[in-house]
Amino acid sequence: MKTFRIPVFIDEFDMDELPEDIQRLKKEAEKAREKAYAPYSDFKVGAAVLLDDGTVISANNQENAAFPSGMCAERVAVWYAGAQHPGRKILKIFITARSEKHRLDKPVPPCGACRQSIAEYEVKQNREIEIWFMGETGKIWRSPSLKNLLPLIFDGSDL
Ligand code: THU
Repeated sequence: MKTFRIPVFIDEFDMDELPEDIQRLKKEAEKAREKAYAPYSDFKVGAAVLLDDGTVISANNQENAAFPSGMCAERVAVWYAGAQHPGRKILKIFITARSEKHRLDKPVPPCGACRQSIAEYEVKQNREIEIWFMGETGKIWRSPSLKNLLPLIFDGSDL
């Protein structure tokens, strides 16, 4: 038997350490977060995506009375980017979450299904996507790529 250890690398930032392009993405993600449609969970998520031509796309979670029919902010954002800018590469995504029920001061990472969806674009464009995420306040975490957050990704090469 062999045991493999697969590390995950995270960089932690304070608010005043954020690069300029990330400050811009953060603002757009926060604006989108406040427009989220989340009447069932009271958990609002905003995501902002930076494309390689400088375009910024933002989106939020959209819930549904039939709960599984709702969708996360990250997937709305990257799918919109894929739909409207199919030739462009996604460089970075910034995610922020706010709960109406309690203060979120720790980084909120993208869910598993969103990681799988974003992985598809990383493979398709053959370029890593920086994943930045936070709660409403507090530290900001950065993963240098999606596959760092989802080791052993399943992709089309296995089909
Ligand atoms: N949500 C997101 O938008 N992104 C995630 O990565 C995790 C969860 C949304 C889905 C649902 O509307 C609410 O947060 C509670 O799960």
